[in-house]
Amino acid sequence: MAWDLVELNDGYKMPTIAFGTWKMGNGQGPIDQVDQAISTGFSHVDTAQAYRNEAEAGSAIRDSGLSRSEIFLTTKYSGMADIDDSIQASLKNLGVSYVDLYLVHSPRLAVPDIPTIWSKMEAIKSAGYAKSIGISNFNVPQMETLVASAKFVPTVNQILLHPYVYAEQAPILEYGAKHGIVIEAYSSLIPLTSQTGGPVDIPVNAIAARLGKAPEQILLAWVKAKGAVPVTTSSKKDRLERYLDSGDIVLTDADIAAIDAAGAIGARRFTAKKVLRTVAVVGLVGAAALKIWGWLGKL
Ligand SMILES: NC(=O)c1ccc[n+]([C@@H]2O[C@H](COP(=O)([O-])OP(=O)(O)OC[C@H]3O[C@@H](n4cnc5c(N)ncnc54)[C@H](OP(=O)(O)O)[C@@H]3O)[C@@H](O)[C@H]2O)c1
Repeated sequence: MAWDLVELNDGYKMPTIAFGTWKMGNGQGPIDQVDQAISTGFSHVDTAQAYRNEAEAGSAIRDSGLSRSEIFLTTKYSGMADIDDSIQASLKNLGVSYVDLYLVHSPRLAVPDIPTIWSKMEAIKSAGYAKSIGISNFNVPQMETLVASAKFVPTVNQILLHPYVYAEQAPILEYGAKHGIVIEAYSSLIPLTSQTGGPVDIPVNAIAARLGKAPEQILLAWVKAKGAVPVTTSSKKDRLERYLDSGDIVLTDADIAAIDAAGAIGARRFTAKKVLRTVAVVGLVGAAALKIWGWLGKL
């Protein structure tokens, strides 16, 4: 299992694949899923204030019997309260005295501005509530603004990354590499979940068949090849085992180029579809407005 540790720019080490708790809801379900992930071999749990299941994640971590230092725990400031209250509420929900990584969930939460919110994150790190601090969903100009005022450069930027958005997101990866910011990739399995049947299926399935692996493993290996850390999830134990097993897959340059090229074709198709949908909606709204206008004229 070659999902090693990566050293962050503040000296702490982070496991290079994470199990996320988004969309799991509350109650026994998420507790069981986090428990299953840990017992399968995941040691990095990614949650957020907005997922509303920090308590469940914390409960599963405590029940795992592992010591606190054996689990790398990430949560995020999602803007549901003042940031100082939010970190305290997250620690309480999780039942821990510190998180390993605390992220600003979105640049939209940087109120009144990026330097101000980041200075509050730095204070949280200095107080020991988070060992490392980072960001999520920041683009390059937003990262530039942050780095210009930062005492501590963010350790990670957690972003959407799959082959259909790779070209668009590549500048963020380049900026991260230049400034020692690790890129975490979420929703990398979108070609298998919500954007199915696209051009990426062709190279991914061909590579999977050649290597005797599953498509999801090829996508995670592609994320790794891009130098990013996948944040993924599954309710199924066999799939979790395959995720962990995919750390050993080595894609060739030709494999990566084929996935990138198919991703770029798919991105153009998805954009064209979106434009057509927007035009159709505008047309329908316009027609309805004209009808109402005509009807009003008859009054
Ligand atoms: N920072 C942010 O703004 C942000 C945003 C989104 C997500 N995240 C983080 O990233 C984590 C993962 O997000 P995600 O769920 O979008 O990630 P993902 O890794 O793209 O998708 C995971 C899903 O893929 C399904 N899957 C795996 N292999 C499949 C296959 N061969 N065919 C069909 N479905 C397959 C799994 O379903 P099964 O359960 O059936 O196996 C699972 O629900 C979240 O939990 C969260 O921690 C962060």
